[in-house]
Amino acid sequence: LRIVVLFGGVSEERDVSIASAAQVIPALREIGHEVIAIDTATGVLSSTQEALLLTGKVAALPPDSDALALISQTHILPERQVADVHVYFIALHGGSGENGHIQAMLEMANMPYTGSGALASAMAMDKDISKRLYTLANIRTPAWRMAPDYTERELQTLGLPLVIKPNAQGSTVGLSIIHDLDALDAAITLARQFGDEVMLEQYIAGRELSVGVLDGEPLGVGEIVLDQALIFDYAAKYQAGKVREIFPAELPADIYAEAHRLAALAHKTLKLAGYSRSDFRLDENGKLWCLETNTLPGMTSTSLMPQSAQVSGITFAELCDRICRLALQ
Ligand code: DAL
Ligand code: MG
Repeated sequence: LRIVVLFGGVSEERDVSIASAAQVIPALREIGHEVIAIDTATGVLSSTQEALLLTGKVAALPPDSDALALISQTHILPERQVADVHVYFIALHGGSGENGHIQAMLEMANMPYTGSGALASAMAMDKDISKRLYTLANIRTPAWRMAPDYTERELQTLGLPLVIKPNAQGSTVGLSIIHDLDALDAAITLARQFGDEVMLEQYIAGRELSVGVLDGEPLGVGEIVLDQALIFDYAAKYQAGKVREIFPAELPADIYAEAHRLAALAHKTLKLAGYSRSDFRLDENGKLWCLETNTLPGMTSTSLMPQSAQVSGITFAELCDRICRLALQ
């Protein structure tokens, strides 16, 4: 297949996207696909169908290159090549790469692309909408209010510690956990730097689990083990050695099965396609709480989604290949 990998972009998770693309690109080449990489921060999105896209600056990487080094070199992709693209692999994270915007553009131009559609992407990116839908589907999720629509009494019910986060960001960008309501205003102000809507969410103590879903089927359940003092924040996510990730998680069989069921149900409830990764807390009573579902989970070979696939017997290259083929079904 001729595959265009869309990466980079201008969201808060640009660096994460570059890391994903740097591993997805060689993996797709290993399978035998022809890959063209486009940084959507510099590529020009044309609105006309014949040129869809990305006739602007493009990074075309030679097969044996160091992807990350070369990804930043851009040049013009000839238009005839753009016309022959079979599938667009969206290796973007956050912002307009994950919230349905790029997906809608590709849909309008009739170009197959990986992962979820425009509406589903938008719903999953909006934590408030996701949680409403989880609730309707009986997927337990921590209680929440949207600032500033809460009464004193509701604030008390959410309790402490309290999680404050932008409604539509990934990778814990702009997130705070406060232990005193005196810190509330500052936390809301911080979160608001990353989007107009801010969520106040009940903090659930417990173990952190993550489950990938591919083509509607749950993959291995993993556990993220943090130092007691840490939350699974941006640094913990992307600096080696900050956390231990255990795949498959050591869990009683019934809880493992329940995590499977809920991840598949969350995927279906949000009308997702291709793949996703849902994150959970397991409390001390053995109850699972769904925190969120990621439509574009991190895709380095050591990210959670690929590890989840690995314990289900799917290698990183196979996972990238399956994701592309699902886009063509
Ligand atoms: N938002 C990051 C990329 C993740 O969910 O893995
Ligand atoms: Mg996320």
